[in-house]
Amino acid sequence: MKKLIDETIDACYSGIYPCEAIDYFKEYHNTENILNDILKGHCLILTCGIELIGTGTLFGSNARRVFIKPVYQKMGFGKRIMKGLEEKAVEEKIRIMDLDASLVAYPFYRSLGYQTQAEEVIPVKNGQNLRYYKMVKDLKTK
Ligand SMILES: CC(C)(COP(=O)(O)OP(=O)(O)OC[C@H]1O[C@@H](n2cnc3c(N)ncnc32)[C@H](O)[C@@H]1OP(=O)(O)O)[C@@H](O)C(=O)NCCC(=O)NCCS
Repeated sequence: MKKLIDETIDACYSGIYPCEAIDYFKEYHNTENILNDILKGHCLILTCGIELIGTGTLFGSNARRVFIKPVYQKMGFGKRIMKGLEEKAVEEKIRIMDLDASLVAYPFYRSLGYQTQAEEVIPVKNGQNLRYYKMVKDLKTK
């Protein structure tokens, strides 16, 4: 999963985020954090044969680590992962789902009905910034 995430970050974030922000994302999705979320959260994995092609995790009310391998993007797999996470949230009686959207994923989440709460900035190395959006969705009104 770490390989899928790093490769997707490299392919999708280059040119959008400065390299310092890309390093930050990769460290944020380190093996320890991935394992912790798998153990304590609800992690979905999409495979094609033995190939891992996508993933997403629900941790409390927070959807996180939604990544689809670049060659499989724009085929509905991201939507399928989010549907699975939302169904799990409803099962867990969670009404409002929240997430942090990268600049890249922002239109995707908007298309799924997530509303923007705030634009956030994390200062990373060399005076660079990492911008993202805090988003929420009321699952009762979906
Ligand atoms: C964001 C991401 C998960 C979307 O997955 P995907 O499989 O490509 O998305 P889907 O094919 O399921 O698209 C679902 C809907 O979102 C829309 N969408 C997806 N990406 C979009 C984009 N960049 N701009 C506009 N709309 C987009 C699709 O048109 C589709 O709408 P439709 O149902 O009306 O046809 C995927 O592109 C990805 O892994 N990106 C890089 C990593 C990332 O940023 N992850 C999120 C971390 S916050």
